[in-house]
Amino acid sequence: MPVHTMTPITATEQSSIVRCASCRAALDDRTARATCPNCGGLLAVEHTLALPRGEALRSRFDERLGAESFRGTAAERSGVWRFRELVLPGARAEDIVSHPEGNTPLVARDPVADFAGVHDLRLKHEGHNPSASFKDRGMTAALTQAKRIGALAVACASTGNTSASLAAYAAQAGIPAFVLVPEGRVSTGKLAQTLAYGAHMIRLRGDFDDCLELAREASERLGVYLVNSLNPFRVEGQKTIVLELLQQLGWQSPDWIALPAGNLGNTAAFGKALREAHTLGLIDRVPRLLAVQAAGAAPFAAGFSDDFATRRRVRAETAATAIRIGDPASWDRAVDAIRFSNGHVAAVSDAEIFAAKRVIDGCGVGCEPASAASVAGVRLLAQRGIIGAHERVVAVLTGHLLKDPDAALAARVAGGLGAEEPLTRDEALDHLARVLSGS
Ligand code: F0G
Repeated sequence: MPVHTMTPITATEQSSIVRCASCRAALDDRTARATCPNCGGLLAVEHTLALPRGEALRSRFDERLGAESFRGTAAERSGVWRFRELVLPGARAEDIVSHPEGNTPLVARDPVADFAGVHDLRLKHEGHNPSASFKDRGMTAALTQAKRIGALAVACASTGNTSASLAAYAAQAGIPAFVLVPEGRVSTGKLAQTLAYGAHMIRLRGDFDDCLELAREASERLGVYLVNSLNPFRVEGQKTIVLELLQQLGWQSPDWIALPAGNLGNTAAFGKALREAHTLGLIDRVPRLLAVQAAGAAPFAAGFSDDFATRRRVRAETAATAIRIGDPASWDRAVDAIRFSNGHVAAVSDAEIFAAKRVIDGCGVGCEPASAASVAGVRLLAQRGIIGAHERVVAVLTGHLLKDPDAALAARVAGGLGAEEPLTRDEALDHLARVLSGS
């Protein structure tokens, strides 16, 4: 197929089913349930479509990077729907709610590699998505599903990014959105987005875990479609972070993929993506996942240290508010992701997170605090000799610097920058001259 043409987006009936991971019940892929109606377990999408394997499938995905990825429909330009056979093949073109999203850069910056102590470090910057975090990749799939099932309203609990993304995609779909956020713990940028995009926001006296419990109960009782990352279609969209970075590397697996971990939806999505990419022959070697938590919110890291013998819960506390989560919902499937990829889970202190953030910000890339946990985790494992200095590592930056402008300013002011008093015109000229002459 010439590179400038594209397989049209056509729906394929019966191309997916939804199955409960606990009781194995199978549901139609048009289910409006975010969790199993029989046992409350986590649901997973299984694609039943016959697909070509290996090189044939790689070429199909690569051909879509032609001219239509620049001038086609939103779905044709999307870095999520490029992989639609592995996302939601049953979606009709008219149901797809796409901004578009994805197509995020993979960048290399020497100061960050030097800081982390690995030579070949790339940063997959998911802050370049339309609402400035990776959540848009899951949300395009979830809102597409909401449209397919005719949802009257959508809802989520959030530490801020899911709510901003939900608000944006619900606005595009024309579906009312309700978000529950923990009072006083959501950064300014995320609050501003959520309100500006027109979601109905409820600030709860409690933390994220309380918000999620309430969101689950409200969706059960009121029939509102729940689009937290326990929703199986969110997972399908977020898998494309991995698929896209593998494609950017010419389908040559890196040794490690590092990501920040909170509610563990993304860790689960990464594991599912790697399993499918390997089964379909897109890659011949599975990279190791490194899930990184903030030390004050690290039940999964504690679980890893005893081979996940028991499920842990903690009262979470960290300045990286996006991952301030003590009772992660996708625990079981994240355990599977770490085991399948022979992965690792680490905990890093807030000081280590902010040290990494200063380096990422200072080289002109920038990210929000939680995102810097991935680089802090790589540094920790390199220091411990678990990641070798010559291994190839991709660290995912999950959100944009402007998500949390207060944290960005605080990090610089703490470093002695930006704290100066305002100057008059003459003082400013004097100041410039002194800085330039080094006196
Ligand atoms: N990084 C950022 C910037 C996030 O916003 C989140 C989660 C994560 C990492 C962790 O991903 O939960 O899938 O393990 N934010 C959610 C939210 C909880 O509501 O925006 P996870």
